[in-house]
Amino acid sequence: MRGKQKMSDAVPVITLDGPGGAGKGTICLLLADKLGWNMLDSGSLYRLTALESLRKNAPEDAQLIEIAKNMDIVYVPDGVRLKVMLSGEDVTDAIRAEEVGSKASEIAAIPAVRQALLERQRAFATLPGLLADGRDMGTVVFPHAQLKIFLTASPEERAKRRYKQLKEKGIDANLPELVAELKARDRRDSERSAAPLKAADDAVLLDTTEMSIDEVVNQVMQMASECFGNKVV
Ligand code: C5P
Repeated sequence: MRGKQKMSDAVPVITLDGPGGAGKGTICLLLADKLGWNMLDSGSLYRLTALESLRKNAPEDAQLIEIAKNMDIVYVPDGVRLKVMLSGEDVTDAIRAEEVGSKASEIAAIPAVRQALLERQRAFATLPGLLADGRDMGTVVFPHAQLKIFLTASPEERAKRRYKQLKEKGIDANLPELVAELKARDRRDSERSAAPLKAADDAVLLDTTEMSIDEVVNQVMQMASECFGNKVV
């Protein structure tokens, strides 16, 4: 156990936690590309578990755990995003559906589901480094990460970003409803007892409400080079 811990300590890890719509996914992809590191979109694991549970009509805890442990998932780089394959099927868009997001946040409150996904998430920490995006990356999954960032933005700004994304995809959306949904999900994620959404004590807080994506990426790159030195250049 000690040996295993030591080995994973040697892998550079940057954690990006924060509420939905704070820009973690986009920032993570851009940083992973710039650094040539691996990335973990931990939310996708909760969404995939939720999707399988809905499709198989398997809502019991034991069924969820079975799904979480045994799902056949492959991530395929696809331009500016990661394609998500579940048992060979492209489910990149399916896991983004609102219903799946709500179910994901519901099952994410079950400690045994979180436990079942823990080792899967830790396995992403391989050289040359990892960018981990989620809610509990810095607090639970990678407590020894060398650089932890907590990204936030106001609910209104996050809803606006999501609204724009949906519109670009040709999906109809209602801004006040999106604000309400984001606030409800924030509440659920922050108030649950299992690994609630909160900044690690040693995380750097970054409020992106007034920042462009480029500004956030540059700021994190600066922190990364201060933290890791020549490993990132
Ligand atoms: O980040 P994303 O919106 O894809 O995550 C979907 C849901 O999965 C979140 O609302 C949250 O409840 C849950 N989640 C979590 N822990 C993580 C990542 C996501 O509980 N590390």
